[in-house]
Amino acid sequence: MNYRVTSLTVQQTRELGKQLSEHLIGGDVVALIGDLGAGKTAFAQGIGEGLGVVGSMTSPTFTLIHEYKGFIQNTKLRLIHMDLYRLRHPEEAEIIGIEDAFVDDAVCLIEWPEIAEDYLPDDRLTVEIKGSGDMPREIIFKAKDPNWEQRLKFLS
Ligand SMILES: Nc1ncnc2c1ncn2[C@@H]1O[C@H](COP(=O)(O)OP(=O)(O)OP(=O)(O)O)[C@@H](O)[C@H]1O
Ligand SMILES: [Mg+2]
Repeated sequence: MNYRVTSLTVQQTRELGKQLSEHLIGGDVVALIGDLGAGKTAFAQGIGEGLGVVGSMTSPTFTLIHEYKGFIQNTKLRLIHMDLYRLRHPEEAEIIGIEDAFVDDAVCLIEWPEIAEDYLPDDRLTVEIKGSGDMPREIIFKAKDPNWEQRLKFLS
């Protein structure tokens, strides 16, 4: 399925992330696609806010992975935020232990996931953000796995 939403401001993009967070469960993987400055980190920050992450979420561009404590329905879980922009070979995704993030006690958000596509679970949600700078963003939610259909109804 495929949902398209327009975001006019960074706050709206964050809010969409926050709304999505209410439908996430442990084990979810969200691939965030979009150009430099599209708003992937802003969207991830909204998810973090919704999951009760304390403090600010900064871009993991240089560190590759940041991990936070969050909650889904009062159950603790990890929020893992990756940025694979600096990877040059798909095998590096394996070396950094990407698959360790695909576990039921974690929600994993991945910016620049393209290079690691072969390692990503088929039941992931893809959020593509089109546009940058002062342009409005078009945010497209896509998933192959039918389990997302019900969970993304809030976008319709
Ligand atoms: N509608 C919008 N949605 C998201 N960000 C917006 C919007 N309008 C303007 N912006 C601005 O665009 C920038 C988005 O930055 P952000 O770090 O989230 O991008 P990114 O996709 O994570 O980039 P990178 O690939 O460098 O990690 C911010 O400066 C934000 O204020
Ligand atoms: Mg970013």
